[in-house]
Amino acid sequence: MWPNDRFIKLCGIELPIIQAPMAGSALSDMVVAVSQAGGLGSLACALLSVEQARKELETIRRRTSRPINANFFCHRPPRQDSAREMNWRRRLDAYYVQLQADNSPSIPNSARSPFDDKMCDLVMDFHPEVVSFHFGLPEKNLLLRVRNVGAKILSTATSVDEARSLEDQGCDAIIAQGFEAGGHRGMFLTDDVSTQVGTMSLVPQVVDAVKVPVIAAGGIADARGILAAFALGASAVQIGTAYLHCPEAKISPLHRQALKGTRDNQTAITNVFTGRPARAIVNRIMREVGPMSDVAPEFPLAAAALTPLRAKSELAGSVDFTPLWSSQAVRLSRELPAAELTKRLAAEALGNLRSLQTMACGA
Ligand SMILES: Cc1cc2nc3c(=O)[nH]c(=O)nc-3n(C[C@H](O)[C@H](O)[C@H](O)COP(=O)(O)O)c2cc1C
Repeated sequence: MWPNDRFIKLCGIELPIIQAPMAGSALSDMVVAVSQAGGLGSLACALLSVEQARKELETIRRRTSRPINANFFCHRPPRQDSAREMNWRRRLDAYYVQLQADNSPSIPNSARSPFDDKMCDLVMDFHPEVVSFHFGLPEKNLLLRVRNVGAKILSTATSVDEARSLEDQGCDAIIAQGFEAGGHRGMFLTDDVSTQVGTMSLVPQVVDAVKVPVIAAGGIADARGILAAFALGASAVQIGTAYLHCPEAKISPLHRQALKGTRDNQTAITNVFTGRPARAIVNRIMREVGPMSDVAPEFPLAAAALTPLRAKSELAGSVDFTPLWSSQAVRLSRELPAAELTKRLAAEALGNLRSLQTMACGA
């Protein structure tokens, strides 16, 4: 039925749609809804403690026996650089004064810890059918433990070089993440955002370069995007921002509101929120300090200094300092429950495919 069924067969799912892992925004409700609908629901664990991740996985396993994906960041832990952090706080000083916010360095740094033994123990306990990583892959021993549990291993590539590197290290499928994507760039062999590739160019080149199935991600939000991804050789799509509009998404009312009013040319890649490049809706801090800043500390250390500014401004109903992660395709999204969105996207993509086939036959 689907032009390419390699990924659905690999994972034992019905529909070639992965609900993207979205740290802080997609928890058990979303994962269960998408997996029950026949897609692959993804639990992003990067912002969860081990206890929180365990609770979410318990809930998910209680509510569905369908395949699920557990997702982890695997960046190199940052070097502490107090001079750089001090510079960063100094760069933000005027905002602290203006908002009368607390600028004390004792404010704890954000979570976003890389995959480690404790998270790996969780994988052993819950046996997610798929485990996906962002920012490369973890060290060999951890990867071997995941493989021995029988999980299919996925990671994100933003270039052909990254895709080849992931395949060489044993990935079962590769997520080709184009420049349009919302949230953090999965880039791990470069930190040069100026050369990042769009989905349309990236997907077919990755398909040509690797033998494993390729999943297209970035700017896909409706049936047309899904069909295009298959035409480019993908075996599935990973969709993030479109799921942020679902009632199951754990985002603030301010973020939800901002997504509704955003146009194609109102997002940008920025490192001011965490220290790593990520796509978000342009706001005051991005305009005035970024979007890319040389002063921002290494990922994820940049985040801590922004926390009090964000808290103060959100209290006043402002998103001046809030990371409003979003795709360039945000306007294509619809507000539907996650299960319905998943089923409709798949049905509409197949409908479009049949129309094209009929047109081709009639021609
Ligand atoms: C709010 C948000 C949070 C994200 N968090 C993660 C994450 O924790 N792990 C991950 O692998 N990808 C994460 N991503 C990236 C997605 O996996 C995916 O590449 C992207 O959403 C696809 O582009 P789209 O937003 O245009 O659909 C996130 C994306 C968004 C929008």
